[in-house]
Parts: sequence; structure tokens; C-alpha cells
Amino acid sequence: MKKYFFAATFFAIFSCNNSNNSSLKNNTNNNMYKDYHTFAQPENAVVKHLSLNLNVDFEKNILSGFANWNIEMHNNASEIIFDTRDLIIEKIVLNDDSTAAKFELKPTVKFLGNALHIPISSNTKSVKIFYHTSPNASAVQWLQPEQTAGKKQKFMFTQSEAILARTWIPCQDGPGIRFTYDATIHCPKNLMAVMSVANNATELNKDGVYQYSQPKPIPSYLMALAVGEIAFKKIDNRCGIYAELPMVEKTAWEFADMGKMVDAAEKLYGAYAWGRYDVIVLPPSFPFGGMENPCLTFATPTVVAGDRSLVSLVAHELAHSWSGNLTTNATWNDFWLNEGFTVYFEQRIMEALYGKDYSEMLASLSVQDVKQTIKDLGEKNPDTNLKLNLKDRDPDDGMNDIAYIKGYLFLRLMEEKVGREKWDAFVKNYFSNHAFKSITTEEFVQVLNDSLITPNKEKLAEVNINDWIYSPGLPANAPVINSSRFDAVDVQINNFTKDNLVDKTIAAKWSTHEWLHFINNLPEKLSEKQLNDLDAEFHFTGSSNCEIADAWYVVALKNNYSKAFEAMDKFLCTVGRRKFLLPLYGEMNKTESGKKLAHQIYAKARSGYHSVAQQTLDEMLADKK
Ligand code: BES
Ligand code: ZN
Repeated sequence: MKKYFFAATFFAIFSCNNSNNSSLKNNTNNNMYKDYHTFAQPENAVVKHLSLNLNVDFEKNILSGFANWNIEMHNNASEIIFDTRDLIIEKIVLNDDSTAAKFELKPTVKFLGNALHIPISSNTKSVKIFYHTSPNASAVQWLQPEQTAGKKQKFMFTQSEAILARTWIPCQDGPGIRFTYDATIHCPKNLMAVMSVANNATELNKDGVYQYSQPKPIPSYLMALAVGEIAFKKIDNRCGIYAELPMVEKTAWEFADMGKMVDAAEKLYGAYAWGRYDVIVLPPSFPFGGMENPCLTFATPTVVAGDRSLVSLVAHELAHSWSGNLTTNATWNDFWLNEGFTVYFEQRIMEALYGKDYSEMLASLSVQDVKQTIKDLGEKNPDTNLKLNLKDRDPDDGMNDIAYIKGYLFLRLMEEKVGREKWDAFVKNYFSNHAFKSITTEEFVQVLNDSLITPNKEKLAEVNINDWIYSPGLPANAPVINSSRFDAVDVQINNFTKDNLVDKTIAAKWSTHEWLHFINNLPEKLSEKQLNDLDAEFHFTGSSNCEIADAWYVVALKNNYSKAFEAMDKFLCTVGRRKFLLPLYGEMNKTESGKKLAHQIYAKARSGYHSVAQQTLDEMLADKK
């Protein structure tokens, strides 16, 4: 692993001596690194502000209008380069002039799309790109009324992370490039538009035009838009819920602690920088649990369980307001800096609000998951390193729970070694010193060395930072999670395994997490009778708690418990959250009869999934004969 570390250091020194080398990127920190997933050359010409003006066309399933970019030039740049994918560029003008400017759309590159080269001169201050999206733009999902909670109106939303912003906005689509934005969105008069801004409307505008602004600089992957029959309910002065009308009351009840979460987060790591913090609950096809769009987290309705048991998702997306949205991974190879820090911070918020015995259950479930991921990927697989190598790959392919949970454990280990007080002071400083900046893993290690390791040499000597970052698998010194609440569940699992008995009065008090631990740790092989008994007693099949239902259907598939299949089929045809789809299709895909079932369900369900879920499942279920 040393080898990797030296290679990275060498690269940094080498690049500083070659500032004219156009393959190297220079971000606002003046550091050098290569982001393989953008065509932009921000060291030559970089965007600073976007004025977006889009019409949302639900007939054609397209967005059309213009993106007017204010730009800044360095090194006598003669062109500015944008990322685009599946965009139709109609016309470009410079400095809001009336004459059409020249441009060139380069040939398609796999995963990345088409570079848009626009010649500029030293007096070019702005570049206005007139364009429309294609109906199959990967970021955008266009929903039919049947796919919504209200069932009456159409709905659309975008998902830009990691490199899909370029499918709906021509932009410099790298996480190291930040800009402010304002937007004018024209949509059907009976629908409302919301974006990743603090000044979203709370009521329908009669004219169907919404004007928004994000005065803080953000990277393109945080650009977001949702349009539908959306209602708002206030939680407190800075927090509220957006959702379709039938969901809004229920969601506001579910997330009633949002304000307290923001308070707890601020107490830990400094003031919330974004003004408002709202959540929008989207229709069930949203492919992720949540997405940390600034000021307005996008979330799946599958966390609205009716018992507030899945609110850690809000803590997670809120935590990104610091880790990710303030201090951002410079490239997708450094993804763990976004997600590992966020899981760590999420855990701390959950601990502050609900106590350590609660947050340790979450940690324990996560660690069980990551151990399985490592087993599945192989202990030597470089995709289990924290620092990834996603060159020539779709970043989405390398993003798994390693960044999240191995990242979390690494940070938790340092907290344990150095003590919470010192660690918290370090993290708080880290966020404030790197606010609105991007950072590579190597720079982070430098910061760690300078401010935490050097003054605490003895305590941190055994961490083996390079092992954690540049070696695969889970290092032997990973913190061990002990959950007393799960120990009590283990007793019941043992009793069930030996005597088919579960103490119902004990189980009646279990939270979702205890149930998940129970279901996930049942013996691999269960008899028909055992499955029937469990289902009759605890009603797992058809559970309205999607986490429990999903975990149970995996058990059902492993044991060919066909009584659960109809409900599973229904689940797979309504829910599009990729985290739930993969274990089920993956399990089906292991046997011949399962494959048949998978194809049969996927044929019905596919059109209802967002493109990121479709892409993963298309690959998984492709006939590789
Ligand atoms: N930023 C991620 C979602 C994401 C990651 C989208 C990579 C595209 C590429 C978000 O913050 C996230 O981590 N969501 C999790 C939920 C969380 C509670 C672990 C998810 O969607 O499951
Ligand atoms: Zn996250």
C-alpha cells in the first residue's frame, strides 16, 4: 500500500511543475488532480454562475430552454468545454449577443457523453446555450399519474449524482467545479416546481412560472428539479416537508424531529450554511433512499414507515450539508470522503437524538452489510479500497457501501484512538477550513497528518491510515460494534433455531432494526413449517415496512417460500429504490427457476424504474451465455 501512497504524492508534485499540462485540473484550492469524468478544463475556462431557463414539457417528456453561464478565463483560453450527454444543442450566443457562435460537439465517449467545445475570446463573459433534453435523459424520470401517490397528475424529478447532470444541463460536470445559480422554470399551471434552493415556493403559482436562486456555490451533481402536484407543510421556522398531497401529513409526522436533527448537527460541527432545510418525498420510483440536494433533500417514500423508525435517512442527507455539500470529494475516486464522513456524522446525530443503544443498532446492521459486500466482491478486490480507481468506468459501478461503512469505521477508529473531544474539534475545523471547497483523499491525509496525527503520534500510530485507504478488505483493527439490543435478539434467534420458539412479548417491543437483525441472521435454510410459523405470527409477507419486507423476501427466495412471491412481485412493481431491488433480483438470478421469475417480473416492472436502476438491472439480468 505504501507504493500507492508514494505514487499519489509523486503525482501531486509532478503536476505542480506542469501547470500547462491541460490534462490536469486546478480547483479553487489551487490543488492539482485529474477528474476523469469531466471533459471540462477548468484551469483554462471555468463556469461561475448559471442562469437556467427551462420549460417542462410533459407531452414530449423533455426540458427545453437555455443555460446562460457566466465564465472566468485563465491562461488565455481560446475555448470553454462543457459536458453534455443526449442533449440537443440548438444555438449558442456569447455575451448575450444576437449572433450565433460557433461550437463543436465531439463524438460520444462511453459513460461520459459528448464534449461541447465553444471558441471564446478574452472578452467573453458569458456563454448562453439553447438546448433541449432527450426523452430518455438518464437523470430525468417522467412519471405517469398511476406512478404517483395522487394518481391524477404527472410527475418528474431529476437525479444528477454522480455524472448525470450533463443529461439535463450542459455543464462542467465535475464535483470540483462550483457555481451559483438562478433558475426560471415554466411548468403546467396545475403543477409546482421545486429545486435545490432555499427559496422554493410553498404554494402553487397561478402562472406556472417559478423563479429560484442558489446563492452558495455548488457542484453540478447537486442540481435538482422536481415538478408535480406538490404540497408543503411547515415543521419549524427553517424546516418543512414537500410531498404529494396524500403523503404530506404522514411525512410531516414521520420527520417531526427534523428541526432537532439540524440543531444537533450544528452543535456538533458548526452552523448550517444553507438557510432552509426541507425534505421532499418523491413517488416510489425514486432510485435512492435519499439525495442530498442542497436545502431540499430528495427522499424515497419507503422511509415513511408510519413509526418513525427509518428517520436516520434524514440525518444522513442532512449530514451531507457539511460532508459533501460544503466539503466535497474532488473526484469520484474520493467518494468515501463524501459518504464515509456522512455516515459517521449521521451516526453522531442519531446518537445525540436517540441514544447510543439505538445508534449502535444502526452501526451493527451497516457493518454486517459491508462484510457481506466484501465477501461478494472478494477480499482482494480494489473496489473495496476507500480510494477508488474509476478511470474509464461509470462511477456508478464502483460506488458501493465500502465508501459508506468502511469509511465510517475508519473515522470511528480515529475517534476511538484520539478521544471524542479532540476528534470533534478536528472535524469541525476540517469542515470550516474546507467550506465550499473540494478535497482529494491525499489532501485529506495531509490535513489529518498536520492537525491530528502529528500532535497525537503515539495514539494514532496503530491506525495504519494507508492500509485503510489504499488496501482492500476490512483492516483487522476495525472497531468492533457491540449492540446489547441485538444480543437480546440473538437469544431469540438461538431459541428459534433450536426449538422453533420466539418469545412474543419480547419481540413485541422490537424496533424495525431488531427485526432486521432477526431476519438477516436466521439460519440459511428454513423449513416450510418454520417459514409459515414466522409469517403467521409476525406477518412479514406484505409488510408495509419496506426494509422488513425486502429482508424477508430475500429469506423467502433462498428457501423457495413461494407464498411470499405474489407480494414480492407487487413490491418490485411499485418500489424503484435500487437498494431494495438488487438483493431480490440478485437472489432470483442465482437459480434457473429464479431467473425465470426475475425476467417475468422485470418485464413488467422495468418501465417504472429510473434509468440508474434499469442500467444496473439490465446488466445483472443480461443473458451472459
Ligand atoms: N448521495 C447519496 C446517493 C447517491 C450516491 C446517488 C451515489 C448517486 C450516486 C445519498 O446521500 C445516499 O447515500 N443515499 C443512501 C441513503 C443513506 C441513508 C445511506 C441511499 O440512497 O440508500
Ligand atoms: Zn450519502
